Amino acid sequence: MADLIRLLPDHVANQIAAGEVVQRPASVVKELLENSVDSGATRIIVVVKDAGRTLVQVTDDGRGMSPVDARACFERHATSKIREADDLTTLRTKGFRGEALASIAAIAQVELHTREHDQELGTRVVMEGSRVRVQEPMAGAAGTTIAVRNLFYNVPARRQFLKSDGVELKHVLDEFHRVALAHPDIAFQLVHNDHEEFNMPSGSERQRIIHLFGRKYDERLVPVDEATDFVRVTGFVGKPEFAKRSRGEQYFFVNNRFIRSNYLEHAVRKAYDELVSRENFPSWFLFIDLDPAQIDINIHPTKTEIKFRDDRTIYAIVHAAVRRALGRFNIVPSLDFEPEPAILAAFASTQAPSAPPREPVPAWRPQDLGAFNAPPRKSGEGWQQLFDVDTAMPQTAPETDTPASEEPRIMPSREHEGMPGERPVFQLHGTYIIAQLRSGFMVVDQQRAHERILYERNIKLLEQGVGLSQAELFPRHVELSVADLALVQDVLPELRSMGFDLEFFGGRTMQVNGMPAEAAEADPTRLLEDLLEQLKHERGTLRNERHALLARGMARSMAIRPGRVLSTPEMHDLIDRLFACDMPYHTPGGKPTLITYGLNDLNERFER
Ligand SMILES: Nc1ncnc2c1ncn2[C@@H]1O[C@H](COP(=O)(O)OP(=O)(O)OP(=O)(O)O)[C@@H](O)[C@H]1O
Ligand SMILES: [Mg+2]
Repeated sequence: MADLIRLLPDHVANQIAAGEVVQRPASVVKELLENSVDSGATRIIVVVKDAGRTLVQVTDDGRGMSPVDARACFERHATSKIREADDLTTLRTKGFRGEALASIAAIAQVELHTREHDQELGTRVVMEGSRVRVQEPMAGAAGTTIAVRNLFYNVPARRQFLKSDGVELKHVLDEFHRVALAHPDIAFQLVHNDHEEFNMPSGSERQRIIHLFGRKYDERLVPVDEATDFVRVTGFVGKPEFAKRSRGEQYFFVNNRFIRSNYLEHAVRKAYDELVSRENFPSWFLFIDLDPAQIDINIHPTKTEIKFRDDRTIYAIVHAAVRRALGRFNIVPSLDFEPEPAILAAFASTQAPSAPPREPVPAWRPQDLGAFNAPPRKSGEGWQQLFDVDTAMPQTAPETDTPASEEPRIMPSREHEGMPGERPVFQLHGTYIIAQLRSGFMVVDQQRAHERILYERNIKLLEQGVGLSQAELFPRHVELSVADLALVQDVLPELRSMGFDLEFFGGRTMQVNGMPAEAAEADPTRLLEDLLEQLKHERGTLRNERHALLARGMARSMAIRPGRVLSTPEMHDLIDRLFACDMPYHTPGGKPTLITYGLNDLNERFER
């Protein structure tokens, strides 16, 4: 029998390979944009016709190509970006396969104009179906323009698979957004069917987000910025109240490359636990920067999936970074980020002209990071820095501070003043605690604060399974309904780990030998009934989140109520413990635990 195996002609092989890289017009937009970014451009213009079917053209002011390169760039595996496999471990460019232009030229009509900055003449190359039709010198602007016409003109089957213009345009915009977000330092313009969709100067990341998604985003963004020796996570997350029903703007960039990752998505979603319901989607724009040797991008032809060497650490750090940012957002409003001049002025009058409190980041907490090795944070430590709290203690006051004598302050009455050097706090209507901050004051809801503290404590107890129980002097008996009894039986181990010392006494009676230390004052019958009541209501919905549910129910039942008068040390203790929590600013149910007022709020009301 004759030999059957033959090598495919190049142009056919190219067409097949192109299928991997170019699925639709948006793929062309992505590849051309990335090449322009890699060329060091400061300005990139995208022109699209008919959602990219008829034309995708990208112009940049980057370094341009020599006449030889202008032709070589269409060869498969022709790249200027890596020379050997090892270069992948230091990769900072978007491209490295040397496939994109070869693939595009196999399935479209391509025209390239390019000139290097130090050359008078540039080069024009026209390609069709992988073949060079024209190559000639030409005069033109420095930089590169590549026009891709009639995509899939020679592959009718692929052309038929394209969706409506609306859908294809959406994909094009998605790719444009991704590159534009990753490079706010580059000016971008996008024109579709002669209509200018975007024209964005270079600027900050926040400005870029606003240009792309609208002014309303300004107030929705919470800055994220955490760094370790290993990785840096920056960017923004959306405030929980702006989470949307539909999957909103969710972007991860690793070393400025957009990537998809269910794993990291999970890390972020988890940080929003209790703040955003499962049906809603928060938005995020997160930039993860790390040594390229720590990642492998080469696992997918479109390069949107990557592998981290140490994905568990990345998970932990992303999670912790978002959680901390969310925890902070209530407190450090726009003051610490690109402040409006008016706010700055108000701020300046109360503060020496030092920088606004940026990055008051307490040390890493080991529980956030699992195996990640970092110094532990002491309970409550650091929140004063977070708020820049005004204490009278000289060693905590920054040197640049206004001398206290120049700044008349209304101090709380003596009986509330507490220890010398203590920060001033007082209780309002037996319900709220007011504490002075350097640039204003905060109002803490004592019940909700306590609920948060108890909740986190309960969760820890449930995980460790050793609750501190305060023995009752005389064991007490609680009579329960049959249903309640069954429920107690169900959750008895958990109740024990939270500090309940219970045993079945016979019949429908439970004997209470000890109560959680924190609730020692409470009436056991009421506490238990209250808790069971909550469990009954939420049981169906949260069956598999038993710990969270129990911890929450217990916290709610045990939290101090309005009307409970607190001593000054008790107030301090409550505030300190609140800020030792992972998520101090909300109850487990998502309600605020405290509100801050800036001096500028007061100044405004007083029309100063
Ligand atoms: N806009 C541009 N400005 C300057 N040089 C460019 C431009 N576009 C492409 N090139 C050159 O052409 C080469 C081939 O580009 P191509 O996109 O095919 O491959 P790549 O970017 O190296 O890798 P990848 O296939 O991963 O994108 C690049 O390595 C670069 O040297
Ligand atoms: Mg490329």
